[in-house]
Amino acid sequence: MPENQVKQKVDSLIKQMTLAEKIGQLNQLFVLPAAVPGMPGLKDEDIAQGEYGSFLFVTDPAQINRLQHIAVEKSRLHIPLLFGLDVIHGFRTVFPVPLALAASFDPATAERAQAVAAREASAAGVRWTFAPMVDIARDPRWGRIVEGAGEDPFLGAAMARAQVKGFQGAFEGESGHVLTSVKHFAGYGAADGGRDYDSSYIPEEQLWNVYLPPFHAAIEAGSATLMSAYMDLNGVPATGNRFLLQDVLREKWGFKGFVVSDAFAVRDLITHGFAKDPEDATYLAFEAGVNMDMGSRTYDDHLAKLVKDGRIKESQIDEMVRPILAAKVRLGLFENPYIDEAAAKAIFAAPEHKQEARRAAQRSAVLLRNEGALLPLDRGKYSSIAVIGPTADSAEDIRGSWTVADDPAQAVSVARGIRQKVGAGVQVETALGCEIRRKVPSMFDMLSAVKKPAPLTDEQNTMEIKKAVALAAKSDLTIMVLGETQDMSGEGASRTSLDLPGRQEELLEKVMATGKPVVLVLLNGRPLSITWAAEHVPAILEAWYPGAQGGNAIADLLFGDTNPGGKLPITFPRSVGQVPIYYAHNLTHQPEGSPGFFSRYWDEPSTPLYPFGYGLSYTKFAISHLKVNHEGVSVEVQNIGRRTGDEVVQLYIHQRAGKASRPVRLLKGFERVTLAPGQKKTVRFTLSDDELSYWSAAERKWVKDPGAYDVWVGNDSNASLHDTMNVE
Ligand code: BGC
Repeated sequence: MPENQVKQKVDSLIKQMTLAEKIGQLNQLFVLPAAVPGMPGLKDEDIAQGEYGSFLFVTDPAQINRLQHIAVEKSRLHIPLLFGLDVIHGFRTVFPVPLALAASFDPATAERAQAVAAREASAAGVRWTFAPMVDIARDPRWGRIVEGAGEDPFLGAAMARAQVKGFQGAFEGESGHVLTSVKHFAGYGAADGGRDYDSSYIPEEQLWNVYLPPFHAAIEAGSATLMSAYMDLNGVPATGNRFLLQDVLREKWGFKGFVVSDAFAVRDLITHGFAKDPEDATYLAFEAGVNMDMGSRTYDDHLAKLVKDGRIKESQIDEMVRPILAAKVRLGLFENPYIDEAAAKAIFAAPEHKQEARRAAQRSAVLLRNEGALLPLDRGKYSSIAVIGPTADSAEDIRGSWTVADDPAQAVSVARGIRQKVGAGVQVETALGCEIRRKVPSMFDMLSAVKKPAPLTDEQNTMEIKKAVALAAKSDLTIMVLGETQDMSGEGASRTSLDLPGRQEELLEKVMATGKPVVLVLLNGRPLSITWAAEHVPAILEAWYPGAQGGNAIADLLFGDTNPGGKLPITFPRSVGQVPIYYAHNLTHQPEGSPGFFSRYWDEPSTPLYPFGYGLSYTKFAISHLKVNHEGVSVEVQNIGRRTGDEVVQLYIHQRAGKASRPVRLLKGFERVTLAPGQKKTVRFTLSDDELSYWSAAERKWVKDPGAYDVWVGNDSNASLHDTMNVE
């Protein structure tokens, strides 16, 4: 619909709306299962009164239609509801978690995944997703690292753009698509100590150069909405933060959409010691620029009084309502408020969605080790295979967190995937090995109807380890599936350790001691300090939480039907004590390599276990012929092995001197290419002002410093092919 018509429709509605109806549009109800304590019930009459503009967490198409009928037919002005949900990595078809999608180093894969998610969600009537989550995170203790693209702003910005495009389509309101809400603005990933919701203290230099770029990219890509964050940023709660929500978002970046708070974050302004009471919280969030209150009902309860008392003008309310109504108009909700439930079922069952999910899982996996070319597995060689580990046959853990509307029966565990791959002629047996459980239960256990059984005792785990070792000893090959259960990462899932939880390390060492060939598959949502495995287990595949088709994709990769080509979007430390450790650090007094190198720990190497950008393949690539000139950078990549495979060619730069000291390396270009044996390709990168400028804390603005720059191209952040260039 042309923008002038959108405006006309919004103007005409605003003219007819009462103050209460306007406030209703700013109010989003969190529809949680009745079992959750303290949740307000949903009353149909309230919908008819126009009390809500939006609902979150309704996923059933029939229920969505029912509620929409009330809003559209019974409310005075027939304004449709906007249904929102955390469609994070799939709706009915579960894709790899966002960190895994980032590991594909292929924005097109992320875009396609989110386009499928959008197609399914919108078919169900969910037209708004609380995604993409673009928080840069450099502390793997933080559980929500799984929801973002990792440590790097350049990769993060590329993934942000791709996801907005995939979800929203070519324009806001395109049918079969959903609106995005880029989140959590801003700095949530820098939580103190990696503790979820804890305060972030981010200096200006890091804020502009590291944490904000993916948000800016998402806004430039047209994200219709944005979500504020829970924590304080430099002492000011993000949900009451005018600097973020006005100065940066609206004034500098020209954002015209609407801001939704994170769930209950408006009310939380009191907890922060920022607002005196709920009325004050309402005032502060509203004045800072939060259009819609997610769940906490403060706007609903207090805005009218604030208008009556003259603290907020009704015209200000109008301005906050406008972008919400405009979004509903653009989505076509006024003309087509309902969904076709039968059509939705057909869309959920689309076979191409499963194929897309399998392909995304294949492309997300990262091969960390492959000594003696154990992988790919030789099909004819093994007549018995043991698949061992606490998550080896789990349909829950293969999917990862944030699966709210899928069908768990569709999920293919690693064991199931291996069975399907090898067929009846090969004996595949599974063993738990040991159980892994959080010491403190997950907040999501509250929402689940299924209650977890009591954990295994230590003796029971000892028995499980024995059984598993015996199975490995009698099998020709063992596939170990270790890592974390899905509830060990995600929201409210911070850890103090990055080691394999529970007795998995012991299990692994005992299985290795059988002397049989072992392949380790990791299912996890954060870097793990698998230092022992990295030295002793010949083959390690990082599969993350690969989604419902994960088991099939892992089997495809292990048996060489496809070749791993993903790369780490985040540094893997040797131990939690190295955290934060990221490749784009600055150099100071006595850095590594200098004669008196003391800027280090005395008990551990200072290098990471695996660097950012790292990942192997079943074939080999040569990268050569680096040319750097004023037009940019070009390089040749050739497959010099015997299998078709993918390489991610990565460009890093370093500014030698300028108005600020700059990181030793910064990723400024990457391209994933597929090459047949012997095939060559020239990859070109441009280095424009966008790549060369940075926020100078000294000048308090974006600058581009003239002078000498180093350029490296290679296949991880230790790339050695080098040249220099001069920036005028
Ligand atoms: C999370 C958000 C999410 C919201 C709604 C909050 O707890 O921080 O990321 O979108 O809940 O589910």
